[in-house]
Amino acid sequence: MKKTLTSLALALSLLSPHLYAKNNVVVVATGGTIAGAGASSTNSATYTAAKVPVNDLLNAVPQIKDLANVSGIQALQIASENITDRELVALARQINDLVKKPDVNGIVITHGTDTLEETAFFLNLVIHTDKPIVIVGSMRPGTALSADGPLNLYNAVALASSDDAKGKGTLVMMNDSIFAARDVTKAINIHTNAFNSQWGALGTVVEGKTYWFRETTKRHNNTSEFNIEDIKTDTLPLVQIVYGSDNMLAQSYLALQQAGVKAIVNAGTGNGSVPKYIVPTLNQLQQQSIQIVRSSRVPQGFVVRNAEQPDDKYGWVAAHDLNPQKARLLTALALTKNADAKELQRMFYTY
Ligand code: DGL
Repeated sequence: MKKTLTSLALALSLLSPHLYAKNNVVVVATGGTIAGAGASSTNSATYTAAKVPVNDLLNAVPQIKDLANVSGIQALQIASENITDRELVALARQINDLVKKPDVNGIVITHGTDTLEETAFFLNLVIHTDKPIVIVGSMRPGTALSADGPLNLYNAVALASSDDAKGKGTLVMMNDSIFAARDVTKAINIHTNAFNSQWGALGTVVEGKTYWFRETTKRHNNTSEFNIEDIKTDTLPLVQIVYGSDNMLAQSYLALQQAGVKAIVNAGTGNGSVPKYIVPTLNQLQQQSIQIVRSSRVPQGFVVRNAEQPDDKYGWVAAHDLNPQKARLLTALALTKNADAKELQRMFYTY
């Protein structure tokens, strides 16, 4: 009799794995459009972000119960443009505590899309785990026609509860695509296919199943030299970005020196170029131990060291393929370890 029951249970679990081997996924809500509400169903761009509480988000997609045992935590309820390094560090500590719990198998973070890539990249660098951490948002509020949030959330839970998502780095789930946190970026500000990576998606989720086509080659999570547990302050060393254009002013950089920055990321034109009339100011700041990092305002490609600017001579760092907003975070983390320009440059090639 017992043998028959065991065989039956085994057969059933093979037929419907979700019924018998459901993982525990915690949804950590922070706000954004996925929690937004508009005045009417035709308001897909005019709405208020960060209104709907996490349990309402989960109740709106009951099908996630077929995928995993899901619980919700309301960590924040804000539009993501309002997230500062303080909220980022606090959120990372909360996620770190959650992944250490043996009964937590995966995490979904619902988040505004504006700074979603920063949060994803930061967690990719400082949370030591191989459990899936999936960041998800939406471009339309739940009140809009063809809202993208519910299916994005369903896909994110499917991904976070998938054993094959373990150890693949922090992931972003948007518009059916699985992206690596380190190279995903918001490239379109009003359409549901808003996110892309110049190196391509890692895979996709279709009808609750994950399909993988590549993996990141960069260090992340368990292989990172950074750890949120090593950060003893509530914020990070101050690093700011200056956007490059024609007709720049030295005062833009000197004002940041006055504000007490420890480094400046220059979102330069082209291959991270700095105008000749600005170079003396940057060299003066570098001499005063404010590290200069050359990123680019150009969304694709990567900044080549010593190509159009003598980085070795100036002691500057090239941000490689990291965009300015991610370069800012990596530089801030590097400064928590007092990394010099040489060490920082290694880090930009490593993460
Ligand atoms: N205010 C933006 C944010 O919270 C809304 C954009 C969105 O979440 O899609 O990031």
